[in-house]
This record gives sequence, C-alpha cells and structure tokens, in this order.
Amino acid sequence: MLKYLNLALIQFSLILFAHTGQSETLGLGRVATENELKAWDIDIRPDGAGLPAGSGSVLSGEETYTENCASCHGDFGEGIDRWPELAGGFDTLDSEDPVKTIGSYWPYLSTVWDYVHRAMPFGNAQSLTDNDVYSITAYILYLNDLVEEDFELSNKNFSSISLPNENNFFHDNRNTLENKQFVKRCMQNCKPDVKITKRAVVLDVTPDTEIETEQSVPKVEIQEETASLNLQLVKDGEKVFKKCKACHKIGAKAKHGTGPHLNNIYGRIAGSLSDYKKYSKNIINAGNNGLIWDSETLSSFIENPKKYLAGTKMNFKGIKKSTDRNALLEYIKSIASSGN
Ligand code: HEC
Ligand code: HEC
Repeated sequence: MLKYLNLALIQFSLILFAHTGQSETLGLGRVATENELKAWDIDIRPDGAGLPAGSGSVLSGEETYTENCASCHGDFGEGIDRWPELAGGFDTLDSEDPVKTIGSYWPYLSTVWDYVHRAMPFGNAQSLTDNDVYSITAYILYLNDLVEEDFELSNKNFSSISLPNENNFFHDNRNTLENKQFVKRCMQNCKPDVKITKRAVVLDVTPDTEIETEQSVPKVEIQEETASLNLQLVKDGEKVFKKCKACHKIGAKAKHGTGPHLNNIYGRIAGSLSDYKKYSKNIINAGNNGLIWDSETLSSFIENPKKYLAGTKMNFKGIKKSTDRNALLEYIKSIASSGN
C-alpha cells in the first residue's frame, strides 16, 4: 500500500512540474519531455480541437483500409465474423437488434479519428501516419454514404462534417431536468405523506411454482395505521386467539402448525405460503381467483370458515360474535404490524 502511494506521489509531482514548468524536483522524478507530453496528449474534440495538420482522400483511404483494417472489419465495413461493423445499420436503432455503426450511431467524427489513431489497427495501435488516419476516416465516411468518392478530408474541412445521429445525443442534464421529476415521484392519487408501517421481510413476492400464477393477484402490502390500534381491543383479542392457538402460531419465529402461521396475514393471498404444504385445493384456488386477506375477508372467514370457503381444511366452527372477531383481528393486526 505504501509503495503504491509513493508511486502515486511520484506521478503527481511529475504532472505538477510538467504543468508549472518548475525544475525543483524534491529529488523525485524529472520533467516530462515535450515528446512524452505529445505522445500522451492525443485526444481530439468534437469541434476538431487537437487535430494535427494533414489530409487524406477516399481513394487513398480505400487502399490503406484494405491493407490494415479489412481483414477484421470487412472490405465494406460489414465486419468479418464477430469483429465490429463500421458501416450501415441505418434505421435499426429502435429495432430489436440495433446495428450501431459509425454511420448509424456515433455522434462525432472526431471520435473516429481519435479512436482509429489511438487504438487501431488492433494489435498494432498507433502505427498509422496522421495522413493515413485522415484517408481511412474519409473512406469510412464513404462506406457510410456520407461523402462522394472524390472527397478529401483534412483538418480544415473536418468540422464541416456531421454524423447523422449527432442530434440524438444530448449533454447530461440530469441535474437540471430530471432531478426535478425525481423529487416529485408520485403520478396520481398520491397520499399526502407516506409512512413505513412494515418491512418486507416475509413478503412472498417470488411466484410460487406449485400454484398457477397466471391469474393470481400481485401481493399487496396493505398499509394499516398502527397508531390507531385500540389497545383494549388488542387485549380482548388475545383471549379470543386462544381458540386459534392450537393450530396457528403468530409472532416472532412463528412456525407452521396444523394451520399456516399468521404473520403478515394482512395482504396475503389466500393459500399462498409455499412452505406450508397442507393447504386444501379450494383455498389455493380461491387465492388464485383473487382472494386476499384483509379485515373484511378475514372476518367473514372466521365467522364461518366452511360456509365462506367451501372445502377448507380449517376445522373450526367459527366465531359468531362480531365484537369477538373485531377484537381478534385487532390483536392479529397488532402482531402483524409490530415488525414480525
Ligand atoms: C485484428 C482485427 C482488427 C483489425 C485489423 C482492425 N480492427 Fe478495428 N476493431 C477490432 C476490435 C476487436 C474492435 C473492438 C475493440 C474494443 O471494443 O475494445 C475494433 C473496433 C474498431 C472501431 C470501433 C467500432 C465500434 O463501433 O465500437 C473502429 C472505428 C475500428 N475498429 C476501426 C479500425 C480501423 C480503421 C482499422 C484499420 C486501421 C482497424 N479497425 C483494424 C479489431 C480490428
Ligand atoms: C383445528 C385447527 C384450526 C383452528 C382452530 C383454526 N385454524 Fe385457521 N386454518 C387451519 C388450517 C388447516 C388452515 C388451512 C386451510 C385450508 O387449506 O383450507 C387454516 C387457514 C387459515 C387462514 C388462511 C391462511 C392462508 O394462508 O391463507 C386463516 C387466516 C386462518 N386459518 C385463521 C384462523 C383464525 C383467526 C383462527 C382462530 C379464530 C383459526 N384460523 C383457527 C386450521 C385451524
């Protein structure tokens, strides 16, 4: 690590002195030579800044290209095997299989000059003269039907050429344009404020392979107000829950028993816990047909299970008193929303 830091420091001082022209070296490194800087400073900008003086024609480009590039990119830029295509592909950008070439996709000609000069031919980079790069660039324009065959490209007319797709690129404006939209995320029927009332720890969002998922309704997280829990009701409900306890567990680490655990029962699709293996066909079907447990459906089910859900395996005669059911549901809700 220390070694690495030292190296970084040496490099930093090299750059620093190169910029300021200072000759004091603190005993480290030396001033970069003019040629070293020249070899490093080769980027070409979209407006042509950085281009060396020079020129090259389509005709001479054809020769140089055929010799140095065609073995991989094809005589007409069509690409051999899996090597990149350099020409064609117009009007394919919105298709399923877009062909992104210099003609169909690249925004600036300066990138072509820069890239070919910097990196091609593959395996023998920076072996071309500046005039070779001008003529090859001219030839690639020709292959893309952007210039005639008698065209000659030079540093003087370079910036007069624009590539067809340039206008589909724009400067990164996320800070000014998109940020505003992200701040206002909600599209319609937005609640004045959003509260997190539950964490999605036990949500079964993964489709269950054993169950026909085609018609099943996506799991809905019902946001019940925890603040409005009636504590007396919760207490009463806890007593009523004794009638369920033989078969159902609820709360932290609750496991399945005769019946499935009842954590996160609010918002659960009926019959949907994949690790509970004893569901009746009927409750699974009901779930697939859209039965989701909420205050209303739970209350009706518990009032008379066999009547509400014919064929259910829940052998329980039901709770007839609505006050008892309300208390019971309040208790279940209090557990469900306490983070279990
Ligand atoms: C040995 C095969 C080979 C030769 C020869 C070759 N290239 Fe390439 N070229 C490649 C490969 C591989 C890539 C992709 C490199 C990458 O993505 O890092 C590439 C990428 C390019 C690209 C960018 C294509 C794109 O859409 O991303 C251009 C432009 C290009 N080459 C031009 C040339 C030119 C001009 C020559 C001749 C001077 C040349 N290449 C010679 C293999 C070759
Ligand atoms: C004798 C055992 C037994 C008792 C007592 C019992 N249940 Fe059940 N319960 C089951 C079984 C078994 C199932 C599965 C039903 C099916 O597959 O048809 C079930 C299913 C449920 C479901 C649906 C769960 C799901 O994943 O869709 C709820 C809700 C439920 N019971 C609530 C209660 C409540 C509340 C009580 C107490 C008032 C209670 N049960 C009493 C055995 C019982």
